Amino acid sequence: MKFEGSHILSVSQFNRDAISRILEVSSLMAPYAMRKKRCHVLEGAILNNLFFEPSTRTRVSFGAAFNLLGGSVRETVGQENSSLSKGESLFDTARVISGYSDVIAMRHPTMHSVEEFSKGSSVPVINGGDGANEHPTQALLDLFTIQSEMAPHNKTLDGLNIVLMGDLKHGRTVHSLSKLLSLYKNMKVTMISPDALKMPDSIISSLTNAGHEVVITDKIEHNLSCDIIYQTRIQQERFASKDEANLYRGHFSLNKEVYQQFCQEHTVIMHPLPRDSRPEANELDSDLNDLDNLAIFRQAQNGVLVRMALFALTLGVENKLSQFEKPVTWYTNK
Ligand code: CP
Repeated sequence: MKFEGSHILSVSQFNRDAISRILEVSSLMAPYAMRKKRCHVLEGAILNNLFFEPSTRTRVSFGAAFNLLGGSVRETVGQENSSLSKGESLFDTARVISGYSDVIAMRHPTMHSVEEFSKGSSVPVINGGDGANEHPTQALLDLFTIQSEMAPHNKTLDGLNIVLMGDLKHGRTVHSLSKLLSLYKNMKVTMISPDALKMPDSIISSLTNAGHEVVITDKIEHNLSCDIIYQTRIQQERFASKDEANLYRGHFSLNKEVYQQFCQEHTVIMHPLPRDSRPEANELDSDLNDLDNLAIFRQAQNGVLVRMALFALTLGVENKLSQFEKPVTWYTNK
């Protein structure tokens, strides 16, 4: 696929070669993200970060990724701080903001809104999450994490045994990740959720049509013997009320005791974060924090590499990185 000038709206736009290229360029970003060297290949370029829904990791890592390549970042946070709140359309907003930008990253609570926005934009738009629909950059960083966590065990993306657990109905990260997994071969994907929060049928079909074994269950214990557990939060913001979300909180808590009893020695735990650490939810107990196989913070860090790669690819500078290097001149312990 041609990356330069393209919007990144859905994982469905990628084939396996495109994913390989994104993961390869992401690896090239490690020296810059680890402050071994600086790169100013995007000096003079402007990212507009438009976040109309709460975010910590996605918004800040998009900004950090752009800064690490030498670019500048402008931010709008919350619809109330934008003229969308005065009735301006996504199309008009895109026409205006794209005139001020070289690339735009956007999160919005409405499904397919980022795609609608992209139609008015003259610069690449990257989807940072559109309602319960998709979160493509999260899925790419999840795949990068799975690949790097499995490499020491001589495992590749093909043939893995993966558990997706929690709110699979509303969790856009598991929707996007499942679509990407359907590009690989011979996987077993176990989906653990209450029946009411089951993965949408279209996504289950994308996995079964690709020849993967899919197991659907509402039981945790004997289903956790796998390579990767991908835990998710009950997406309270997608329910009609907090009381309805509360019906499902705490059903699938993973703690050290459960991990030690039911997982394999190498089972890696992932979570897109934020995890809900309130006692009534506690989906990923803090007693797992000292476990080497808890990959959640490495996963969040990988978001910087993958987002740097997407900026480099969409702005056509992925082959120029080494021409724009400088030494790091400040203290760093990374
Ligand atoms: N994983 C993720 O999207 O986190 P934020 O909501 O904090 O951006």
